[in-house]
Amino acid sequence: MTNSDQRSDEDAIDVQGGYSSGIAVIDPEDSFTDPGIEPHRPRKTDLFPEAEKRSARTVVAWMVLSAIGAVAAIVAYVVFPIDGHDISTVRPNNLFLGLGIALSLLALGIGAVHWARQLMVDEETIDIRHPQRGSEEAQAGALEVLDAANKESGFGRRTLIRRSLIGAAVLTPLPGIVMLRDLAPLATQGGDPAELLRHTMWTAGTRLTRDPDGTPIKASDVQIGSAVHVIPEGLTNETEDWLNKKAKAVVLVVRLEEEDLIEAEEKKSWSYHGIVAYSKICTHVGCPVALVEQHTHHLLCPCHQSTFDVADGAKVIFGPANRALPQLPIAVDDEGYLVAQSDFHEPVGPSFPERAL
Ligand code: FES
Repeated sequence: MTNSDQRSDEDAIDVQGGYSSGIAVIDPEDSFTDPGIEPHRPRKTDLFPEAEKRSARTVVAWMVLSAIGAVAAIVAYVVFPIDGHDISTVRPNNLFLGLGIALSLLALGIGAVHWARQLMVDEETIDIRHPQRGSEEAQAGALEVLDAANKESGFGRRTLIRRSLIGAAVLTPLPGIVMLRDLAPLATQGGDPAELLRHTMWTAGTRLTRDPDGTPIKASDVQIGSAVHVIPEGLTNETEDWLNKKAKAVVLVVRLEEEDLIEAEEKKSWSYHGIVAYSKICTHVGCPVALVEQHTHHLLCPCHQSTFDVADGAKVIFGPANRALPQLPIAVDDEGYLVAQSDFHEPVGPSFPERAL
């Protein structure tokens, strides 16, 4: 007797004997009767033409509201611009822009649902499942179904609703398109987008200070295994364009045992007694990299889990980033404070295809 014969016999025993080997078996005698479909209950809009018209007006009103929301979002973007010197301008910009987009999407969704619930054909049908095939008959059938759906939904017939829906759907994505204007290369007035990230506030002799209080850092204050979030000395919220400057210049300072550092020959002078400084801007799409694993010396980006090895030039050891974090060359001044030797030697931040490294 083969294994499959044996299994069939066991299955037969299961069917007659109920439970066996922990497997539940359905007795054909226990099968239940199909309760069928409940009697159809017509909606008000099916019975009263006035109710139907009222519903159609409601749908149009939601579509118009959606269009108003989209336009309001664009107006808010223009009326409440973000001023790089004044962080208080971010709040009204985000608030009114967000409200406009939310109103636009919400009204579009409510209008569409109302249309489907109150005006589209409301009848229960049983659709027998057919085998899937791509024959010509099937395609012709699909076209018929589409045609019927078009007729039943009233998409072809209800001109005003259709136009208001199309108008709202066209306007809804517009705020997103308008906001693209803030992206490079438009933001650089047609120049090289990598230029935006090529130069930061760091210059030779600029002290490294704690973020956010601006306290200068002595090399002796940085303990082995510690990580310090750093900004250039003199960068405050009074500085012109301080948000953009800070976004590019933020640095993480980490101290390791000197013998743990693996340094390229040309970068051996960029660290100071095991203290290294790397840009905090992830080279994937620019999130702040800030999670340091003390024992492994790994630096983790919380956005998409790119992991950099601080001991080995902040090279990528995992994740979607494809470039090491740029290193800031550092030294100490006469008073023992950490200072930059120069700016970064490459653009910080995400890697644009245009960037020539
Ligand atoms: S931004 Fe850091 S991994 Fe994506």
